[in-house]
Amino acid sequence: MITVAPLAARDAVAFGHLTFPLFRSLLAEAGTLAIGAACAGQPVGLALARAGREAELLSIAVAGPWRQRGVAGRLLAELEVRLAACGSERLSAVWIAGQPSTPAVERLLARRGFAPPQARMLVCRARLARLAESSFVARRRAPRRGRIVGWDELTAAQRDALRASTRDPARCPDWARPFFEEERIEAACSVALEDDGAVLGWMIAHRIAPDTVRYSRLYVLRGSAQGAGFALAAEAAWRQHSRLGNAAPFGSCDLAVSNRMMTNFLGRHLRPWLESVTASKGACKVLAPLAAAVGDR
Ligand SMILES: CC(C)(COP(=O)(O)OP(=O)(O)OC[C@H]1O[C@@H](n2cnc3c(N)ncnc32)[C@H](O)[C@@H]1OP(=O)(O)O)[C@@H](O)C(=O)NCCC(=O)NCCS
Repeated sequence: MITVAPLAARDAVAFGHLTFPLFRSLLAEAGTLAIGAACAGQPVGLALARAGREAELLSIAVAGPWRQRGVAGRLLAELEVRLAACGSERLSAVWIAGQPSTPAVERLLARRGFAPPQARMLVCRARLARLAESSFVARRRAPRRGRIVGWDELTAAQRDALRASTRDPARCPDWARPFFEEERIEAACSVALEDDGAVLGWMIAHRIAPDTVRYSRLYVLRGSAQGAGFALAAEAAWRQHSRLGNAAPFGSCDLAVSNRMMTNFLGRHLRPWLESVTASKGACKVLAPLAAAVGDR
């Protein structure tokens, strides 16, 4: 018999192989909700979510021999109930299109009442040794205004000033804020655009796997010189290639499908130098208040 139940932090670790390496450290963290499926005490499935008003499904997986028996459906139903009980109002999910499990994921979410999937991001993956040969990186230009410095070269005063100014949504949108997942920031290839002591832009990279750096946040403040974003991106890629080499040979970056300027640039100049470009999709669901959700199971 398969049991489905929330996992206490100490038990969750045994389910680590059922999520992405990036999320394993979250299993025992407050703010993460882990629901496990087990058979005779052995882990067979895991659903993992970041809790909060706007909760996020981080991953859901069922071990091969146990698939297509309704285990994922049960995991997700339990997750929704527990999230609703903690005050979550919506649950969103993002997944990669065109994978062997994509039809199962989409069917699962549709059955649980998620809205129809929307195209969301292009997930680009590059081998830096190859990307470094592109004219984008090899012939990168210095910015027209200011200079590029390493993120770790900023002074404490510059950081404090930036931390304060980027809290203002009028100056810096949420998605662009540089100070996040700071413990994973890859110093070797995160860079800033500095002019006369002021920080005008940044490219923040995170080490998301031993061999992979994700280029997470590229932003240039309004009024900075044109082309500064490209200069930051090319310099960051060059630094990864020249400083990390085989220690972290891959780079990844997610581009919003709605960002026409970047997706056009990608198609025209970068595509031949990339290992892969895959699309991600997303869907979300309004969570029923607790009483209704329990009755729905
Ligand atoms: C996606 C996954 C979790 C589904 O697990 P599961 O336990 O087999 O799912 P369920 O049995 O609950 O099935 C849910 C629905 O998907 C359908 N489904 C399952 N496998 C399917 C497949 N290969 N193709 C099409 N539909 C499929 C089921 O028929 C069911 O729909 P129904 O209720 O209308 O019959 C599982 O395939 C998996 O672990 N894949 C690898 C991990 C992964 O890619 N996760 C997603 C990204 S985090």
